[in-house]
Amino acid sequence: MNFKNRTKCKPLDGFTCKKYAPLPELLKKKIIMELIDTHCHLYAAVFSEDIDMVIQRAIAAGVSRFYLPAIDSETESALLDLEKRYPDICFAMQGLHPCSVKNDVQNALQYLEQSFSTRRFAAVGEIGLDFYWDRSFEKEQYQAFHQQIEWAIHYDLPIVIHSRDSIEQTIAVVREHQKGKLRGIFHCFNEGEAEAKKIIELNFYIGIGGTVTYKNSKLPEALKDISMENIVLETDSPYLPPQPFRGKRNESSYLVYVAEKLAILKGISLEEVAAVTTKNALEIFGR
Ligand code: NI
Repeated sequence: MNFKNRTKCKPLDGFTCKKYAPLPELLKKKIIMELIDTHCHLYAAVFSEDIDMVIQRAIAAGVSRFYLPAIDSETESALLDLEKRYPDICFAMQGLHPCSVKNDVQNALQYLEQSFSTRRFAAVGEIGLDFYWDRSFEKEQYQAFHQQIEWAIHYDLPIVIHSRDSIEQTIAVVREHQKGKLRGIFHCFNEGEAEAKKIIELNFYIGIGGTVTYKNSKLPEALKDISMENIVLETDSPYLPPQPFRGKRNESSYLVYVAEKLAILKGISLEEVAAVTTKNALEIFGR
């Protein structure tokens, strides 16, 4: 489907667009802030029973856009189906998650190359390096990461980066490719201030999610001197719910807990956190 010629959503399963058409009305009347969930896997099977309610609750909480990171070809159709169901608020990324990089990386990359040439995606993601779970495909992870960054540059798309036990190596790869055009997010950032500063130097944004609310989180300290201008919000739903919901399924309406925590940390209003992070997210994805 052509990105620019997206058709408006059609009624599905008795759920009509009409219910959601008044979104701007809703925003005017009830919601005083607008949040963007820059990273949520709302297409995961765990949402299949009640996705409409999940989206409705998020909208009621002020979340106006949902960016859906890809994992691999197995989960792709669920992701694209959700985007089709909510074409004005859900936006698909395309990419190969480092944990899905295996022996068959060549085939997976070939498929992606074709996919990127067929339509426009919101971003290349999530991509990166994950040395926490498994290092046996380290070489292939690097190969996939480099290749996908090159496509992002070619198509002028942002990248959404996953990094676990690999922050230095991930930063080094991004630095290698950063010749001014590359932009994106280090998703689910959970490192120290030094790493945050290196990311900002690379002209990247820091994705902050539920972990900032955890009691033993080092993030509040790491973010003390980091400007809100460099931060975007995310839930990573269904993973990593904020403190009150730990152990449960995360969902996009909980984004407000992340925003609230940042407001407290920074000594600013919730509305200000919403305004700055929404502007940042649109700056990344809006081109
Ligand atoms: Ni993710």
